[in-house]
Amino acid sequence: MDAVECLKTRRSVRRFKDMPVPFELLGNILESARLAPSAGNIQEWNFIVVTDYKTRENISMAACMQTWMNDAPVHIVVCSNPGKSERFYGDKGEKLYCIQNSAAAIENILLAAHAQGLGACWVGACDEDKVRRIIGAPGNIRVLGIVPIGYSAEEPAMPDKYPLTDVVFIDKWGNRIKDIAAYMGYYGTHIKRAAEKGREIFAKIASGKNKSSSKKS
Ligand SMILES: Cc1cc2nc3c(=O)[nH]c(=O)nc-3n(C[C@H](O)[C@H](O)[C@H](O)COP(=O)(O)O)c2cc1C
Repeated sequence: MDAVECLKTRRSVRRFKDMPVPFELLGNILESARLAPSAGNIQEWNFIVVTDYKTRENISMAACMQTWMNDAPVHIVVCSNPGKSERFYGDKGEKLYCIQNSAAAIENILLAAHAQGLGACWVGACDEDKVRRIIGAPGNIRVLGIVPIGYSAEEPAMPDKYPLTDVVFIDKWGNRIKDIAAYMGYYGTHIKRAAEKGREIFAKIASGKNKSSSKKS
């Protein structure tokens, strides 16, 4: 499945089969998290992989008693060190970038799980202090999300999503257009033409270079 197909078909999964997650799949998921973009490439995150049943149960309780989480054989707790981004970016690093960075990592986890035939869900509702204590993280570390992962025992339908017309503005705030797909098609044709033109120019330059290098030899 390509990337667009993957992100279009991903759903939040909250029911899991009683089957372990193969370690290599988990490895790919963690690699995908590690490779997420982060402001200034600071990567102030840590990923705590929890497989122990009792610990998962405690995490579910600390996550507003979302007991469905117990059935996922793996929880990845996504933690961040805001002090690290604060050192580089001050207030914005501490209060915004560290959260955005972890959010990017969490999205990568969800997509990597789905791409490999697994189900996962982003869990944000939790008592941060409790989860921090359960995993034994120090007080300066924030818990920014928990992702239960396993083989899905459900096929959730796509929940309602706002259509593009409602959420996309063109050039200026509030500037909606009715048939966004057609509009994008129009842009698509222009971009395609521009790319073709670019390729032609590049080919000309490249062949010119070849000529000059063959003259030298
Ligand atoms: C920041 C954030 C926090 C979330 N927290 C929870 C949660 O605590 N429990 C839960 O069941 N789902 C949680 N979700 C999942 C959303 O409910 C889900 O993404 C949304 O309903 C859309 O469904 P979809 O993921 O299938 O597109 C969270 C999602 C995000 C982005």
